[in-house]
Amino acid sequence: MRYINTIKESRLIFGDNLQVMDDLPAYSIDLIVTDPPYCFSKHNGKLERGENEKCHSNTSLYDYNDDTGECRIKVQFTKADIYKWLDMTPRLMKKMNAYIFCCEDQIPYYAEWAVEHGYKFAILVWEKPLGIINKKRFAQNAEFIVRIYELGTGLNAMDDSEMYSRILHAQAVRKKLTPTQKPCEIMERFIRLSTREGGVVLDPFLGSGTTAVAAQRLGRKYIGIENNEKFYAVAENRLKGEPIQASFF
Ligand SMILES: C[S@@+](CC[C@H](N)C(=O)[O-])C[C@H]1O[C@@H](n2cnc3c(N)ncnc32)[C@H](O)[C@@H]1O
Repeated sequence: MRYINTIKESRLIFGDNLQVMDDLPAYSIDLIVTDPPYCFSKHNGKLERGENEKCHSNTSLYDYNDDTGECRIKVQFTKADIYKWLDMTPRLMKKMNAYIFCCEDQIPYYAEWAVEHGYKFAILVWEKPLGIINKKRFAQNAEFIVRIYELGTGLNAMDDSEMYSRILHAQAVRKKLTPTQKPCEIMERFIRLSTREGGVVLDPFLGSGTTAVAAQRLGRKYIGIENNEKFYAVAENRLKGEPIQASFF
């Protein structure tokens, strides 16, 4: 039998998500909405021709060499990394229910993990405005979200026609506070579809705090974890500026 734990207050936590998740109480989270680093390993850490144009300085994603102009990708979030954080989640969830942004290369790992653990999965698509056009490939006008869930996590009714569409339309954030900031409206949609007021939303890869902002706007509680000092500060500042709607706070 599961003893549900109650998280009373929203929290932003600076630190490594594996350690922090290990300390969170069991069966305390209603929903995960998160956006872990993507995986660029198929290029073996090097950019393809043409992609160099995106990179003219050091960022969280790129190492730029001023002398040679060479740019290397820093982030390689592989199957092993994915399994490490996902393995922490079944202990925390009241029922498995997670929306996870990922790149195309990572979809098989998330899906495989779900199947191995007896969960269901669905692939959702964020159709975003087109950036760079390459006439020899399919357009890069989509990002992917894997939903991992189990029975008993049916979606809440929504009052718009797109209710259960797997295709989401949203503009990319124009003036990003951090390089990979996602549109708040997408996080809000997932939270509205899959929690009730007062529910607890976990984002173990918080970045600039978008999931927490969405949760706060909708009167849900959040646990947000971020290990980059600058991004953590951005998230803190954003949340201070957000109105708190719910009566239970
Ligand atoms: C793709 S970004 C999230 C962006 C976020 N959705 C937003 O709208 O700003 C992923 C974040 O995960 C953080 N991160 C990566 N590994 C982490 C870890 N082990 N623990 C905590 N945060 C981590 C990175 O610093 C980065 O800010």
